[in-house]
Amino acid sequence: KETKEQLIIDAGQKHFGATMCKSCGMIYTASSPEDELQHVQHHYRFLDGIKYTGWKKERVVAEFWDGKIVLVLPHDPSYALRKVEDVQELVDNELGFHQAVPRCPNKTKTFLFISDEKRVVGCLIAEPIKQAFRVLSEPTGPESPSSKECHRAWQCSDVPEPAVCGISRIWVFRLKRRKRIARRLVDTVRNCFMFGCFLKIDEIAFSDPTPDGKLFATKYCNT
Ligand code: ACO
Ligand code: ZN
Repeated sequence: KETKEQLIIDAGQKHFGATMCKSCGMIYTASSPEDELQHVQHHYRFLDGIKYTGWKKERVVAEFWDGKIVLVLPHDPSYALRKVEDVQELVDNELGFHQAVPRCPNKTKTFLFISDEKRVVGCLIAEPIKQAFRVLSEPTGPESPSSKECHRAWQCSDVPEPAVCGISRIWVFRLKRRKRIARRLVDTVRNCFMFGCFLKIDEIAFSDPTPDGKLFATKYCNT
């Protein structure tokens, strides 16, 4: 299903400017041979990375009309762990994280959102934590002294607060964003992270959020 808007964008940007591939979501300049080469290389690796063939033993923890969420634990069969590694590599690449060192690999829980097209379109990596630092609201107003000097977009409190679950990665495939996939992943983590209880909002913490991550987390935590 193509919208009118998409058709116009495609026609206008066929030979110049930025194009977004409708399969892999990469944004590149179609008129640049280097860019096109990079796209081709990314395209197949990415689509192969998110391909989900279905597993004999899969732990389905939530089901929806447009997909399901599968939980992978550290001692699962190697085919499951390999898929998690592949997806994490794609995610880290996109986020510009170059070394993925989970603090506690034995306790990491990975939640994959599998679409009806049998693709991993969302990924959330959670680990147990004991404390977190609350993000302080951004200084607003032109008088605020920190808005000029402080280039960090936000600041954290110095006072640790008890927490239970740290979300070290959350990612949704570019072409599937704003469909509440991230929200459903976090709801599912709250439900499944600790057996028998639904974690409160302030028992979960997002580590090192990106601008996208912060927009999502702010919205999620206030609703
Ligand atoms: N801008 C503004 N608001 C946003 C954005 C955004 N980019 N993303 C989410 N929200 C808010 C909206 O209010 C949205 O509700 P609405 O669509 O009804 O307005 C609400 O959050 C819920 O959004 P979802 O649809 O559940 O979020 P989505 O599935 O699109 O995933 C995510 C959000 C994971 C941040 C996605 O944009 C993404 O993968 N970005 C790139 C990777 C990234 O930066 N991840 C965060 C890293 S930080 C970390 O991992 C701890
Ligand atoms: Zn592509």
